[in-house]
Amino acid sequence: MKFLHLDSSMLGAASVSRQISREIVDRLTQLHPGAEVVARDLASDPAFHLSSAHLAAFQGAQTDNRALTDDLVKGSDYIQELLEADVLVIGAPMYNLTIPTPLKAWIDRIAVAGKTFRYTETGPEGLLKGKRAFIASARGSIYNPGGPMAALEHQESYLLGLLAFLGITDVQVVRAEGTAYGAEAKEAALQQAQDAIAKIAA
Ligand SMILES: Cc1cc2nc3c(=O)[nH]c(=O)nc-3n(C[C@H](O)[C@H](O)[C@H](O)COP(=O)(O)O)c2cc1C
Repeated sequence: MKFLHLDSSMLGAASVSRQISREIVDRLTQLHPGAEVVARDLASDPAFHLSSAHLAAFQGAQTDNRALTDDLVKGSDYIQELLEADVLVIGAPMYNLTIPTPLKAWIDRIAVAGKTFRYTETGPEGLLKGKRAFIASARGSIYNPGGPMAALEHQESYLLGLLAFLGITDVQVVRAEGTAYGAEAKEAALQQAQDAIAKIAA
């Protein structure tokens, strides 16, 4: 059993999504003793944004740019780690209505036709079948469906759509929202997430 644990919050030790993702991984490790955890801190060690230099390299162009070469290796490692993972745990705060840019940079490197999805005559098909995922979501406001903020929700909905596109449909969102509404609201939101984590089954 292999877990891939991603974090993307820029708030370090104060991060809510990091706390939730860590507690999910702890819970999964209790349920699956001996599981291997591969962790990526995308905030402190991000990939470069995908660029024309990357696309040229993918098509075989040679480069003597050491930073680009290292980054290309990082992107290949991302894909290998994802292919090998049985369970993904994605720490994903909402920043400016969507996911943090380092998490988007990771997605830009793993969403590769022929590796994680493919195009067929009837449309795209995800190739990451049989995996389970958890989204550790934290956001300052509240985006309940039908509420005034619902139309601005491009964080969980984007990740759920992306995972489904790649073939991952067994996804649980563990959410703390309203974290910006004061200390009490933040504590209650975290408690709700922790209650959900305690119910995670093998
Ligand atoms: C740069 C930045 C942008 C943010 N943008 C939003 C936003 O658009 N909507 C929202 O509800 N909260 C927003 N927040 C609040 C965070 O989502 C909230 O503090 C959340 O708990 C952050 O998760 P983290 O503690 O894991 O980083 C933003 C916070 C930061 C630092």
